[in-house]
Amino acid sequence: MSEQDLDGTVTWGALLKETEVLLERSGKSDNPKTEAKWILEEASGATRAEFASAMDELATVRGVNHLDSMVARRTAGEPIQYVLGNWAFRTLDLMVDQRVLIPRPETEMLAGLALDELDRMRPDGGGTVVDLGTGSGAIGLSIAVERPQVSRVLLTDASPDALAVARANLSGLGLLGRSVEISEGSWFEAVPERYLGECDVIISNPPYVPTAETLPASVADWEPPSALLAGRDGLDDLRLIMSDAYRWLRADGALVLEMGAEQTAGVAAELDALGFTTTIHADHAGLDRAVVARKT
Ligand SMILES: C[S@@+](CC[C@H](N)C(=O)[O-])C[C@H]1O[C@@H](n2cnc3c(N)ncnc32)[C@H](O)[C@@H]1O
Repeated sequence: MSEQDLDGTVTWGALLKETEVLLERSGKSDNPKTEAKWILEEASGATRAEFASAMDELATVRGVNHLDSMVARRTAGEPIQYVLGNWAFRTLDLMVDQRVLIPRPETEMLAGLALDELDRMRPDGGGTVVDLGTGSGAIGLSIAVERPQVSRVLLTDASPDALAVARANLSGLGLLGRSVEISEGSWFEAVPERYLGECDVIISNPPYVPTAETLPASVADWEPPSALLAGRDGLDDLRLIMSDAYRWLRADGALVLEMGAEQTAGVAAELDALGFTTTIHADHAGLDRAVVARKT
């Protein structure tokens, strides 16, 4: 931004226009107008409701420095979610950074499937839910907040960095997070023995991208590979979860898994062979995205 920004003579509105132009010219943003608005909200500290009136106010030096840093990161290609440092998931506003996968809209649908299963099993509240590979905590924390009567929600991850983000998001929930526990380790190794045969719902959005698949640069260059890649056919982690889930579920409990469209039929067949009853669910784009497997 220009020199005049620092002597308090420029309005947030003028910086909004300048930011739009910089984002547009960088070619990194598909939606420079909207992203410029989000960045200005963050820099000015204005809420969505205050935004229009805040644009007539003079920018602060501190706010302009923050704005400059966000614009530099975004025009270098860093995803807008990491640049802003927070992102909406269902009812939550989650802190996100490069330690965790950016929560996706299709995973909001997955969390909805888990809530349906929990409601079926526990119409009067209570119940035990395990979110394996929690990342930012998106799924498990949504369940804790949207079903405050749930007894236990366990968040696990093999990455201590990811769990630090999940912990920060948990602490932002205050009392709504009272049912939540966090445990580090690989898949079911992180789950305490007392959960054996007690889980109403086990949910996971594990890594499921085949190692050789070419991902867009905005994903491959910024998001953690350990959150994405899962062997030659992308099924390494799904297989580990599937092979162990049955004994952790209570009778009639459900395993809810996210995966790629071309993986759903094979995963459902493997789960059927393990004694589950499965259904395949499409995401908002109409692509098969999830398998719900009930222990029968
Ligand atoms: C696709 S991300 C999903 C993150 C989050 N649940 C979401 O939906 O946004 C997969 C997560 O699984 C974690 N993960 C990878 N390998 C794991 C393992 N062996 N055991 C537990 N978690 C693992 C990654 O660290 C990452 O946080």
